[in-house]
Amino acid sequence: MVSIAINKGHQNIAMLGIGAYRPRRIVSNDEVCETLDSTDEWIYDRSGIRNRRWVSGDESLRSMAVAAGERAIKNSGVDRSKIGALILASSTWPDITPHGGPTVAHDLGINGIPAFDLVSGCGGFGYGLAVAADLLRSGSADYVLLIGAETMSFSLDPHDRGTAFIFGDGAGAVVIGPSQENGISPAVWGSDGENASAIGQNFNILEMMDRAESYQGKDPETDPVGRMLLRMEGPRVFRWAAVTLPRALASALDVAGVSKDDIEVFVPHQANARINELMKKNLGLADDIPMANDIENTGNTSAASIPLAIEEMLVTGKAKGGQLALLLAFGAGLSYAGQVAVLPPAPTEASF
Ligand code: COA
Repeated sequence: MVSIAINKGHQNIAMLGIGAYRPRRIVSNDEVCETLDSTDEWIYDRSGIRNRRWVSGDESLRSMAVAAGERAIKNSGVDRSKIGALILASSTWPDITPHGGPTVAHDLGINGIPAFDLVSGCGGFGYGLAVAADLLRSGSADYVLLIGAETMSFSLDPHDRGTAFIFGDGAGAVVIGPSQENGISPAVWGSDGENASAIGQNFNILEMMDRAESYQGKDPETDPVGRMLLRMEGPRVFRWAAVTLPRALASALDVAGVSKDDIEVFVPHQANARINELMKKNLGLADDIPMANDIENTGNTSAASIPLAIEEMLVTGKAKGGQLALLLAFGAGLSYAGQVAVLPPAPTEASF
């Protein structure tokens, strides 16, 4: 029997640089309420959101992903020729085929590397970080570019009280590579398909296939298949989050071998500022530990929310590069992924 070679990876790895892109158009609660039957006060009180950003003009998921990726590469100081894989975490890339990773890699001047999409709803960045870490530790790549990018605004029903005010567009990216000390813990991740229907589009893929069949021979111009609108049972997600996420956070500290007193920054997914405040309190993190609150002016940007939130904290000085952070991504699936990670340096090229 021949012996087949194995890769030798890097065990000590870290986020070496971060980059982000925020769409130019800022949409206030009042603007959302021109269509939605709600008020600025209700939205801020229940979700912590005042503004979100939606793409306009020539902005697209592709352009945002490339802009964030470009900044992450520059801010990391890593020569792009060393990047061995690209992961695009997104649930809103416009095509199922072709998927976005290879196009984004091409636009970034790193055509040819393994590049793929990772779909895990708002848990996408946490899942992407877990996969990127494993690629590095197994030796499949020396440096990985992880991009979370979403255009949530395309699938919003402006009349839906459960979603219209929550979601925003944007992109955030990190370059992950070898480091002297380890800066990324093993992931604590999981899913709950029993509650899958709590967040989803208003028709599923099987219905789409049925429709595709029934549209055979018809003119798509006169018989459009229609948009896929996002629906969410907010209170059901809230209840799931209240039970599942505190356990995930405690396990993340446990597998990282650190105590809650070691945590200097808390960066939960930006789904709802009230959920995050509750989680911080229940975990027993000290009041003065800075917690990401990018949702206030960026909304919930799904797989982009964690890198956008980290970037905001680093640029405004609420957090500093090198600090120990507790990260938690969660959302559709339902799914979640948490890690303890050292924050990358503040970006020299920022998104605002
Ligand atoms: N504007 C004004 N009133 C609204 C409203 C809106 N947009 N949406 C609901 N209401 C009303 C309801 O009609 C209800 O009124 P009632 O008490 O008279 O019956 C009341 O407000 C409470 O509704 P409810 O749906 O229970 O709201 P909520 O407090 O749960 O807040 C969310 C709604 C969406 C903000 C909240 O459930 C949430 O954030 N959930 C988790 C979302 C999440 O984590 N998602 C992950 C995505 S990645």
